[in-house]
Amino acid sequence: VNTKLIRLHLSEAPTKFPRELVKALREEIHFSNLYPNPGALEISAPLAKYLGVSPNRVVAGNGCDELILRVLLANREGGVICYTDKSYTGYTEISKFAGVQTSVIPLLQNRVDLTTYLEHAPSKTAVAIVCNPHNPTGQLHTKSEIIEFVSACGDRDILPVVDESYIEFADPETNSVVGELEEYRHVILRSFSKSHAAAGLRLGVATGDSTSVELLKSYGLLMPFNVNRVSQRFANELGNFEPFFRSEITSIIRRRDWFQNELWARNLDFFRSNTNFVLLRRPEYLSAAALLNHHGIEVKDAGSMGFPEYWRVSIGTQDELLQLMSAMCSA
Ligand SMILES: Cc1ncc(COP(=O)(O)O)c(C=O)c1O
Repeated sequence: VNTKLIRLHLSEAPTKFPRELVKALREEIHFSNLYPNPGALEISAPLAKYLGVSPNRVVAGNGCDELILRVLLANREGGVICYTDKSYTGYTEISKFAGVQTSVIPLLQNRVDLTTYLEHAPSKTAVAIVCNPHNPTGQLHTKSEIIEFVSACGDRDILPVVDESYIEFADPETNSVVGELEEYRHVILRSFSKSHAAAGLRLGVATGDSTSVELLKSYGLLMPFNVNRVSQRFANELGNFEPFFRSEITSIIRRRDWFQNELWARNLDFFRSNTNFVLLRRPEYLSAAALLNHHGIEVKDAGSMGFPEYWRVSIGTQDELLQLMSAMCSA
């Protein structure tokens, strides 16, 4: 890792793990000669506790990305996979490798419109993915909007997949649909990469109705040791460090709100966010490459996500964000 660069391009958290957590993870390295628990079944309990569901309703993945891949592989015979335009590029990339048929649902004025989503879905749709909150716009759907969408999917025998990778930054008690979709076929995805500053550990979790969860589990046979020993230990430690992570999330949310106020005060255009990043309009004469070369700051050029004049910027430290704004305003 080049520690001289300011990394604001991958929606990582700037949080460093507490010493006690690092100590626990280090202990696990001593057992590196031993394979981890296959299927990561032993971490079902802590992951289920974190989500507030029962242990037989969770599947651990090597990041949320592995779980997206499993959803696609498990449902590819069923028909078309839908996801919205101008979204997380992983949906497109993983679809390509999974060899699935896809259909891209248009946004309406750069917003995901759940009321018209299914009108655009082909008749042979098997899966409809919704990212809530949305990457990269930060848009949040209310719980009732998602439930209505999930119910409409049920009417058409479509499996709705709600990607809640950023929900911890959007008041999950109010907005997450975990535990709210019992009567429907569904999958909900979560990631520890952002909320728990664990992008390097690669840990994600899926929950859903029992049939969908069992199907996802069966695709785990492809890679039985998908979650490594250190990451499994991390999952086992979650309960001990939850107050720490909650307080870090709260400070990232506060800093996001401060950052958005600063952008507003400087007349910089941005999408109001419910995540740990902000999509903002870049200065006309400053490219992401020039920002990196001249200022050592990495941001995500959102052109690849359908927003050519925008950057997606992670909520780093206050100092990093001040440096970014200063570079933008001197352009
Ligand atoms: C919407 C969305 N889903 C899934 C992922 C993948 O997350 P993970 O790091 O857990 O694989 C990302 C990563 O940026 C994301 O933005």
